[in-house]
Amino acid sequence: MPKIVILTGAGISAESGLGTFRDKDGLWAEHRIEDVATPEGFARNPQLVVDFYNARRAQAADASPNAAHVALARLEAAMPDNVLVVTQNVDNLHEKAGATNVLHMHGALDSALCAACDHRWTAPLAMAAGDLCPACDGPTARPDIVWFGEIPYYMEEIEMRLNEADIFAAIGTSGNVYPAAGFVQAAAAYGAMTVELNLEPSLVVSQFDETHFGPASQTVPKWVEGLLNV
Ligand code: APR
Repeated sequence: MPKIVILTGAGISAESGLGTFRDKDGLWAEHRIEDVATPEGFARNPQLVVDFYNARRAQAADASPNAAHVALARLEAAMPDNVLVVTQNVDNLHEKAGATNVLHMHGALDSALCAACDHRWTAPLAMAAGDLCPACDGPTARPDIVWFGEIPYYMEEIEMRLNEADIFAAIGTSGNVYPAAGFVQAAAAYGAMTVELNLEPSLVVSQFDETHFGPASQTVPKWVEGLLNV
């Protein structure tokens, strides 16, 4: 059985009603990255940042997985030790679809993090600036989101899994943000076959061996079906 690493981005959740970042009307057309997604922005105006993630948390809580999330969960169920999803998404739609091997490299909306002692706990639906950390009591709670200028989570484990992968797939990601955009190059260098599934060609499309363009809810189930039928 092939070892498969799947990188997902905002495009996989678009058909579940969650906005992407860089498409027309995307989140970064309406909000300034430096205001809501940097440590400096949080230091300047924590309530603005917390409110931004509160709104996204509420939206994600109401969202349901689509056929693409369901297909990936089915792939994992068919070969549990061989499938890893590395997601840049902070929603939990992979888990809602039944996936369990999921690494949230950019953090998660349903988690809160203490900026002082690194303790993590389940985020309330509405966080407030200055919320107390349940471990150290400091007014130092923050959304558990990896902001621009911070180091993504699980990088060592991801590097190891890319090294072992026979197949690397990127789904619904524009290839703008590193290190994730560099995973295709690393996986290929380690010998994996690489495939992009996206609505439109990403910035790194030329580095993939195979491409499937279209909405994730259509391309991903078809691709999974192909893998399960070989
Ligand atoms: N099916 C498949 N792909 C889609 C769909 C869809 N229904 N809708 C949009 N897409 C594609 C777009 O064509 C685009 O290439 O999804 C991609 C979304 O790109 P971005 O908005 O840049 O999202 P992503 O690549 O996940 O962003 C990476 O940037 O700001 C940060 O931390 C944030 O994790 C995020 C990171």
